[in-house]
Amino acid sequence: MKGVIMACLAQLVNEKFGEDSMEAIMKKSGFDTSKRFMATEDVPEDKAMGMLETTCEVLDISLEQAADAFGEYWVNEYAPKIYGIYYKNVDNAMDFLLMMDEVHVKSTRNIENARPPRFEYAWQDDRTLIMTYKSPRGLIDICVGLIKGVGKYFGEELEVTKLSSEDIKVVFKDIPA
Ligand code: HEM
Repeated sequence: MKGVIMACLAQLVNEKFGEDSMEAIMKKSGFDTSKRFMATEDVPEDKAMGMLETTCEVLDISLEQAADAFGEYWVNEYAPKIYGIYYKNVDNAMDFLLMMDEVHVKSTRNIENARPPRFEYAWQDDRTLIMTYKSPRGLIDICVGLIKGVGKYFGEELEVTKLSSEDIKVVFKDIPA
């Protein structure tokens, strides 16, 4: 996993839960407490996954709560600063989500060893989108949190439901049924 995800998580924990919590997470996850994650570095998959689990333990929150906090922070605070280009010319959650497959390909194209998640899209009706998340990492809960974060960013009401380990239903509630 690319260090950018860990760097965002570390910034979120430091800012919202304090540096002591972050130090405890780093120690428990087997990282030096002085380590700073670089965006393009490769964090071994087992260590990255371990850090997500440890974060829940140290902060005493569920995976769902951690995923929602991460998703909200990534989409609303972290990504706009470093990936501002993908926010330009998009003014609604639907268009933003429909771009996500392309954004993951483009944002990692020049980064060696990147293995970004991919997305497929199918419409159930005019306001109901099924997003299929394709990644061997199985981080569907994080995905759900990120999609909720997109709703918040655009000030729209989205109903986001995990249907399986790959499929997520997104209802754009502001569009009349
Ligand atoms: C401007 C917005 C976004 C950018 C630039 C972006 C970019 C990235 C990058 C660079 C990675 C690391 C990939 C790697 O390690 O190879 C990543 C991971 C991930 N992204 Fe995004 N992302 C954005 C928004 C989203 C949204 C809205 C979703 C949900 C629909 C999402 C879902 C994920 C997931 C679940 C991962 C974890 C890796 C995995 O599951 O394989 N991202 N993203």
